[in-house]
Amino acid sequence: MPKNIILDCDPGHDDAIAIFLAAGHPALNIKAITTVSGNASIQHTTRNALIIAEMAELTQVPVAQGAEEPLVRKPKTAPHIHGESGLEGPELQEPTKQQESLHAIDLMADLLDHPEEPLTLVPTGPLTNIAWLLKRAPHVKKNIKEIVLMGGGSFGNWTPAAEFNIYADPEAAHVVFESGLPLTMAGLDLTHQAMAAEKEKEWLRHADTKAASFTAELLDYFTATYKELFGFPGAPIHDACAVAYCIDDRVFSTTHLPVTVETAGTYTTGMTVIDYLQTTGKAPNVNVAGQLNHSMFWTMLTDALERLP
Ligand code: RIB
Ligand code: CA
Repeated sequence: MPKNIILDCDPGHDDAIAIFLAAGHPALNIKAITTVSGNASIQHTTRNALIIAEMAELTQVPVAQGAEEPLVRKPKTAPHIHGESGLEGPELQEPTKQQESLHAIDLMADLLDHPEEPLTLVPTGPLTNIAWLLKRAPHVKKNIKEIVLMGGGSFGNWTPAAEFNIYADPEAAHVVFESGLPLTMAGLDLTHQAMAAEKEKEWLRHADTKAASFTAELLDYFTATYKELFGFPGAPIHDACAVAYCIDDRVFSTTHLPVTVETAGTYTTGMTVIDYLQTTGKAPNVNVAGQLNHSMFWTMLTDALERLP
């Protein structure tokens, strides 16, 4: 029986690849794609989500626009990594797929109100939508099986301490991390192991689906920015790691640890403070991702891309 998921994302090159993975793998059933302001403005991330959903022929999957700004802070975007549009690089066709009239949070609440079974939430952008959902519709918590998110880590990529998704809305992340819901965090320690470089792009260029060749074009741009900004040999496909875990939780190891989100530090706002030695006495609340099974991850992704149009 496929696992029912809601993808909450800010496409974003790696979000786009995460959508392809979820769309192309039979172990998952995407009940909805919701968008949030993050890598680019909400208008761009929603347009990009529609483009990718249409390319993956997700004709029955609703795409709904979500929060245009964080709970209390001003929006942050990442044009230096994803371009102004959020999906710079490949030539983009205007989508014919229409977004839902419902707001993302209302769509999520509706889907969670009477699910055939509890749903897994897979946020791969700032956690604003998820925090609003938990605040406005706390009764749906019982129908959330787990939250598997991309974000955080023991180091940062936006500041020395904070990863972008958490840094962009630390108050929202605090709500989610303190929700008491089963939570798995695919942080940078994990996602930096999911590096796509020349070899992977070469394979993608020669695969015979549009989704695979488009992914190669996405990675051409994404790897170039990571090389220029961080001197990396490739680009981490961060968000696909969270989806891969929903497909098969053997794809990376986890350790159940206490994690607290810093919301007020001068140098540490947005940090996921991971209590590895359990010095605080706080009960563990997060499955923190550790070691990636790279061949399993890459096989999942290539199989999914080959199943897509
Ligand atoms: O820090 C990496 C995360 O920030 C990824 O989700 C990427 O898409 C950006 O949103
Ligand atoms: Ca993202």
